[in-house]
Amino acid sequence: MNTKNKILITGGAGFIGSHVVRRFVKKYPDYLIYNLDKLTYAGNLENLTDIEDYSNYSFIKGDITNQEFIRELFRKYKFNGVIHLAAESHVDRSISNPLEFIYANVVGTANLLFSSQEQLKHNQNFHCFYHISTDEVYGSLDSTGFFTEKTPYSPRSPYSASKAGSDHLVRAFFHTYKLPVVISNCSNNYGPNQFPEKLIPLAINNILYNKPIPIYGKGENIRDWLYVEDHAEAIDLTYHNGKPGETYNVGGNNEWKNIDLITKLCEIMDRKLNRPPETSKKLITYVKDRAGHDLRYAIDSSKITSDLGWKPVFDFETGLTKTVEWYLNNKKWLNNVISGEYEKYYQEQYVKR
Ligand code: NAD
Ligand code: DAU
Repeated sequence: MNTKNKILITGGAGFIGSHVVRRFVKKYPDYLIYNLDKLTYAGNLENLTDIEDYSNYSFIKGDITNQEFIRELFRKYKFNGVIHLAAESHVDRSISNPLEFIYANVVGTANLLFSSQEQLKHNQNFHCFYHISTDEVYGSLDSTGFFTEKTPYSPRSPYSASKAGSDHLVRAFFHTYKLPVVISNCSNNYGPNQFPEKLIPLAINNILYNKPIPIYGKGENIRDWLYVEDHAEAIDLTYHNGKPGETYNVGGNNEWKNIDLITKLCEIMDRKLNRPPETSKKLITYVKDRAGHDLRYAIDSSKITSDLGWKPVFDFETGLTKTVEWYLNNKKWLNNVISGEYEKYYQEQYVKR
């Protein structure tokens, strides 16, 4: 049996995870893919209906913070690889509810590392613990410079601090227990299936229903946007060819000020909805800034390009247009996720504050 082929993917019902699961299930029919997800508000099995009947795919509902459950799972399945995406992922929610982020992102990662290490001890057939992390661990940049793999950690939100904590634990297990680990730190993803709490799908949803588009502060914060399929490709390459103990930065080399991005999105939406030019722009509304709002993220991804041959394929115009089309063609998906908990969250985040 190939050492790479019984893989636990955590958080596979979420945004990025669902693209990674689909890619592995379809591309590697001889691998067994186990998708472990708690199905929080962000997890959605509707993201994976097209592959749910594939014989090399299994879904397991469970919580990575439950140590005994995770230990039993590893004893039962004897995974020989882990791709770990499960996390609480939204910065604003981490500001109102930091402890949940510590449990899921730090304790959850520690449990998976501990069980992977036990697995390695009893069965040397363990290929890799691959931890999917974020560029936010590096802190905030001024108007110049890029994050490299050597940039010191300086997380500034409960979310990024919890991700930084989990990155440190992953490296500790490499040095202490010789667990083969790889980490990648990626910039902002966008694309189909992203929960409409994040800027781009939130704006698409609000434009569609003629609601104000909330822009924090002056809209001058800058993010480096990457299409989710490009990230999935980077994850595939890194899982298979990344060097144990190494970190790879992944980014789109595609920096946008929030206000410029939203203006571009409004233009695309006007075209797709056959609305007169400049219609959606009128919905832009400046609101109170995010606490501790990081000014700019920008990634130097030259290492993953030179070492693993990765580079993004989708330009922003193409990726954004595909994203808009997906949401317009999947209004049922959108309406399902904006019912229930979402409305309460939206009120608290945007209306009552
Ligand atoms: P997401 O919020 O869309 O999905 C997270 C998934 O994890 C959900 O399916 C959720 O149900 C699951 N989950 C949460 N807590 C869990 C728990 N305790 N046990 C089991 N499952 C649990 O997140 P995303 O945007 O797809 O991000 C995935 C990963 O990539 C995260 O680790 C995030 O930090 C990282 N990342 C995201 C971005 C981005 O722009 N979205 C960029 C870089 C890195
Ligand atoms: O950089 C990678 C990170 O990108 C990931 O690790 C996180 O999981 C992911 O959520 C994302 O974090 P951001 O905070 O950058 O993404 P978000 O979509 O929440 O916000 C993008 C920018 O838009 C940011 O400057 C805040 C701003 N914003 C966001 C929302 C939700 C607004 O102006 N208005 C909004 O309503």
